[in-house]
Amino acid sequence: MKKLVVANWKMNPVSLDLGRKIFMSIEHRMHLAKNTEAVICPPSLFLPAFSHYSAKVKLGAQNLSWEEQGAFTGEISPLMVKAFKTDYAILGHSERRLFFGETDSMVAFKLYAALKHKLIPIVCLGGEKNAKKDDMKKLVAKQFKAVTRQIEKKDLHRIVFVYEPVWAISTMKNSEPATGEHANELVEYIHELAGVNSHVLYGGTVNKNNVQQFAKYPMIDGALVGAASLDPDNFWQIIKEFERESIHRG
Ligand code: PGA
Repeated sequence: MKKLVVANWKMNPVSLDLGRKIFMSIEHRMHLAKNTEAVICPPSLFLPAFSHYSAKVKLGAQNLSWEEQGAFTGEISPLMVKAFKTDYAILGHSERRLFFGETDSMVAFKLYAALKHKLIPIVCLGGEKNAKKDDMKKLVAKQFKAVTRQIEKKDLHRIVFVYEPVWAISTMKNSEPATGEHANELVEYIHELAGVNSHVLYGGTVNKNNVQQFAKYPMIDGALVGAASLDPDNFWQIIKEFERESIHRG
C-alpha cells in the first residue's frame, strides 16, 4: 500500500497564480516519488484550473454536500467536483465542526454521498471542542461509529481515515503536535476499528522538522498537512520522508 501525503490548503492562498505555482512545484517533483502519493486539496474554486495540470498529484475537495443538486445555497455537489478530476474529499475536519457546526450525522451523510459518487473520502477523527488528550480513544471510537453508521463493513477499506486531534492543529490556540508515540497508538486503534486494509494517516502540525517522528511508524500510512503544505519545499520534505521510510522497510 502506498503512503499518502495530503495537503489541506484551507482558505489559502487567495491568489490563483500563487496557488498554481505551489501546485506545479510539487507536481514537477512527484516523478521522484515511487511509493508515495500526493493529494492537494485547494479551495474548491481552484479545482477547475488545477485539473488541467494534475497528472502526478491527485486533487481533493475540502468539503462536500451530501446532495447532488438543487436549492442548497453555498454548497458544492460531489458531481461538480468529480467533473474536475477530483478523486478525494476531506470530510469532518475539526474546523468544519468547530466553526461551521458540522455534526457526526452530517459527516455520515457526506461520507455516504462521497462513496456513492466514487470519491475517496478522507475522514478526520479527533476534532471536537475541548477534546481532552487522555480521552482521545473514547472520542475517536464515538466519532468512528457515528460517521460510518450508514456504511457497510465491506466498504470501510475505501475510506482514508485521519487521526487529527484538534489540539494538535497548528492554527488552534495553544496547539502542540501529538508525540509520535501517541499518534501511532491512536492510528493503530483506528486500524483496529476499520479492519484489514484500512488506510490511516496522522494530521496535526506535521512539517519537515517533525515528520520523521511520525513516518517511522509503519502503521502511520501518511499525513494530512495544513500550514506546511503551502510551502512547496516543506511539503516536499514530508513526502520524501514517508518515501524514504517505505523504501527502507521494503
Ligand atoms: P496543520 O493543519 O498541519 O497546520 O496543523 C492540519 C489540518 O488542519 O488539516
